[in-house]
Formats: sequence, structure tokens, C-alpha cells
Amino acid sequence: MSSAPGKLLPRPEIFDFQGVSMTRFFTDNWENVQNFQAKPGDILVATYPKAGNTWVSYILDLLYFGQTERQTIPIFERVPLLELTSPGFGSGKDAVDKLPTSPRVIKTHLPVQFVPKSFWEQNCRIIYVARNAKDNVVSYFHFDRMNRMQPEPGGWSSYVHRFMEGKLMFGSWYDHVNGWWKKKQTYPNLHYVFYEDLVEDTGREIEKLCCFLGLSRSDEEKKRIIDRSQFDNMKKDDMVNYSSIAVMDFKISPFMRKGKVGDWRNHFSEAQSLQFDEDYRKKMTDVTLQFRCDI
Ligand code: A3P
Repeated sequence: MSSAPGKLLPRPEIFDFQGVSMTRFFTDNWENVQNFQAKPGDILVATYPKAGNTWVSYILDLLYFGQTERQTIPIFERVPLLELTSPGFGSGKDAVDKLPTSPRVIKTHLPVQFVPKSFWEQNCRIIYVARNAKDNVVSYFHFDRMNRMQPEPGGWSSYVHRFMEGKLMFGSWYDHVNGWWKKKQTYPNLHYVFYEDLVEDTGREIEKLCCFLGLSRSDEEKKRIIDRSQFDNMKKDDMVNYSSIAVMDFKISPFMRKGKVGDWRNHFSEAQSLQFDEDYRKKMTDVTLQFRCDI
């Protein structure tokens, strides 16, 4: 993956694609992505954008492959984004096909109904990471400001409204987290993780991941992984902080921005928060799916 040509790209337009807001960078390779052939050992890390995909992908990479020479390869090459395709970045699907590792760890932002069917047929393990809506939209706003591969974000107020209407890239957060939550009821190989739980106790969540993946690692190894995957350490590490991607302007906002639960309080006005909560209650009717906006 080369990062240089991306700088010249104009920002993409967003459009309705089978009921989900998308840009061509994630639909141009649609047939190939849908026909992707998963292997039984593949592990899919699925999230709505900005819910902690990089963090969990990195933890998995460390759990499986440790401190090898892989640590000199950028994380987005170790764990490619399956549905991405753009000039300069190439195809995520081709990058996955070329992965030499076993297992292959694969990233996606697809809502559950768009996941290539071979993942289900091969009964692959899937980890879904979800983040509370308010922090998620804040993180997404700053990401869209700094990343020219994303549609123009506009101002904060209109951005929150578009989030509520499901008009951001990869569609509705509400449909995304609910769709994957429902899938968990019928597909046992799905582990649903909350970003807030990871922040609260990374070690506990790594334990759960090991249990789900059938891995046993020494206490010392797990401690090392907790340390390596801490926000400050990832932020310093050029192989996981996305600093080599030219389409991202870190002067506007860094990829590893704050890594906090509750930063929404620095962005939402009281009126915005009340309106958001009221709309949230109407959309999030499944009481079994509960998020924490503060810890
Ligand atoms: P913020 O913008 O709130 O800081 P993704 O990888 O899915 O794009 O998600 C990015 C978000 O996860 C960013 O949130 C980023 O800082 C946060 N993140 C990444 N690694 C983290 C870590 N080790 N601890 C806490 N947050 C982390």
C-alpha cells in the first residue's frame, strides 16, 4: 500500500447504496468483496468506524504474532480493511488474499447484512467492537475533518444530525450496532466487545478475547500486550498510529486523538445532548443492548 497518491484525491461524494450511505472507495470493488473466500481460521474484526478497530486489531496481532519483525509493518497492512479500494491504496480484498499469516486477521466496517457470505459458511470467528454513540460521533467527526478519503464533514451541529439520520459513511450507527447484536443471538462465533469495557479494564477484556479465541498466553505475555496496546504507547508507535498515511492531516487532528470515554461532554451542548438522547431512546428499543457514555 502506497500512501503518497492519496493526497491528491478530491473528497468523495456520499450516496445511498442498498439503503446504506457509502462512498465509491468502499463500493467500487463490491463484487470481488462479496465473492471473497474466507478460510475457516480467519478472524474478522468488525466495527462501525471509530469504535476501536485499530486497538483490537493490534491486540490480536500481538496475541498471535508477538514481538516479531511484523512490528515494522504498518497495522493497516497487517490487518487490511477488506472493502477498501482506491487509487493509491489498492484493494483491501487483494491485500487480504496476499496475507501470509495464519490466522489472517481482517478488518471491516460493513454492516452485518453486507458481510461476504463465506465468513458465515466457514464459521469464522468474528469480534465486533461497539462504542457509545456520543463518543463515537465525536471521534468520527474529527476523523472526517482530517481524512480526505472521507466525505466533507461540515460543521459539528449538522454532523450530529447526519449521524442521527444515518447519513454518514457506513450508514446508521444505530442499525450497525443493533444488526450485529442481533446476529450474536444466532451466530455463536461472534464476540461482542464494548470500547468502554476495554478502556475500563483492558486486561479483563484480553482475558475474554483469549477465551473466545481458545488462546492461552502467559501472564507475562499478557502484561506486555496490555502495556504495548495502551493509548500512549500506540500513539507513539508509527506502525500503529497511521502517521504514514498522506490523506490524513494530523495538523487538523491525529488518528490516535484522545482515547477516552466521555469526551462527548466537550462537544455536545446541553440542548444537543437532550435532543440526541430523546432520538436515541426511540431508535434503541432493545433493552438488552446497553452502552455506557461515562465510566
Ligand atoms: P478517539 O478519536 O476518541 O481518540 P478506529 O480504530 O476504529 O478508527 O477507532 C479510533 C478510536 O479508537 C480513536 O478514538 C482512538 O484514539 C481510539 N483508540 C485507539 N487505540 C486506543 C487505545 N489503545 N486506547 C484507547 N483508545 C484507543
